[in-house]
Amino acid sequence: MGTTARDERRQTLPGHVYTDPAWFDAEMARVFRAMWVVVARGDEIAAPGDFLVREIAGDSLILVRGQDGRVRAFHNVCRHRGTRLCLGEGGHAAGSLQCPYHAWTYDLTGRLIGAPHMDEVEGFRRDDHPLHPVACETWGGLLFVHTGRDPAPLASQLGGLPARFAPWGLEDLRLVRRETYHVKANWKLIVQNYNECLHCPVIHPMLNRMHHYLGAENVPTTGTYCGGAMGFREGVETLSTDGRRRRAYLPGLRAAERARVDYFAIYPNLLLTLHPDYVMTVTIRPRSPLETDLVADFLFHPEEIAKPDFVFEDAVAFWDGTNREDWAISEQSQLGIASRAYTPGPYSAREAQLWEFDQWVVGKVDRSTDDIS
Ligand code: FES
Ligand SMILES: [Fe+2]
Repeated sequence: MGTTARDERRQTLPGHVYTDPAWFDAEMARVFRAMWVVVARGDEIAAPGDFLVREIAGDSLILVRGQDGRVRAFHNVCRHRGTRLCLGEGGHAAGSLQCPYHAWTYDLTGRLIGAPHMDEVEGFRRDDHPLHPVACETWGGLLFVHTGRDPAPLASQLGGLPARFAPWGLEDLRLVRRETYHVKANWKLIVQNYNECLHCPVIHPMLNRMHHYLGAENVPTTGTYCGGAMGFREGVETLSTDGRRRRAYLPGLRAAERARVDYFAIYPNLLLTLHPDYVMTVTIRPRSPLETDLVADFLFHPEEIAKPDFVFEDAVAFWDGTNREDWAISEQSQLGIASRAYTPGPYSAREAQLWEFDQWVVGKVDRSTDDIS
C-alpha cells in the first residue's frame, strides 16, 4: 500500500516541543509525575536497609528496602525543616535514616522515631511527621514509582504486557552489565528513534545484518505502550556481534519467541528489548528539553551466569555500538529541530507508531484546563 491521504497529514511535531523549558515542565508534570515510571532495579537494593537516591522529574526520592523485604519510596525531604535526608546515590542504613542537619531519625517505613528537643513542644507528636510516601511497585525486577496523587495500580498501566512477557521470566534475570549515556537530545527523540527501523540500513550496519528492516510485526499501540517483534535473517540466532548465540535460550521461551526480538516502548521511560537468550532494558531519565540520561542494563539467566564459560561481551558490544549510533543521530535530530529553519515534516506510513506517540504526548500536555502539580 502506498501512502494514503491521511498519512500525508501526519506530520512531525513543532520545534518548541523539543526545546521549550515550559513545554518540558508540562511533560514532567503531566506525564512523568502522572504515571508509573521506572527508577531502578530491585536487586540494586537487595538487602534490608539498602537504599538508593534517584531524581525523577524534579523530585529527589529515597527507595529503601525495609526489614520486611518490601521496598518503599519517600520524598528525600526531612519533615523538620525540609533538608535533603540522604546525600549521594545510596548506601546501607542500619535500621534507620537520619537527617544530617538536626538528627531527626526515621525508620525504614518512614516513621519518625527520633526528634531531638521536640518533646518539649506542646502538641508535637512524632506520628504526625512521617516521611512523605511515594507509591512504589515492582514488575519484572524493576522498581516503578508514581509521584502523583492516588495512583491506580501499576498493573492498570502495564495492561497485557506482564502476560505477554511472562515467558522471558524477567523477575528471574540478573544484572550483569550497566552502560550509562548522556545524550544531548530530547527524550521523545529517543523513544521515536526506538520505534522505527527505517533508519536501520543507513545507521546500523551491524543490526541490519541481523534483521530485515521492514520485518517488524507491531501490536496495536495503546495509551501506555507501543511495540512489536522482528524475526532474524537466515542463520542469525540472537543480537550479538556476529549473530551467534552463546547462551542457552531463556528457559520459558517457546519456538516462536526463540526466533525473534521484541521491542517495546513502555511509556514514558522504559525501552524493553527481549532476545532469545538475554534482555536489555533502557531507562530514560530526561534532564532538560535538550538532555537525557540513558541507562542500559543487560540481564541474563542465573544458570548461564554460573557457567564457567559464560560470556556476555558479544551482546553488550553489539548494543553499545548500536545504541551509540542511535544516540548520535538523535543528537543530530535535536540540532536540526532546534534550528529556526525547521518546520514539521511528513511521516511515512511506516512511522505510524511515532505519530501515535506524538499525539499521546501532546494529548497529555495540552489538557490546558488541568492543574499542573
Ligand atoms: S532539617 Fe532535618 S533534622 Fe532539621
Ligand atoms: Fe536505531
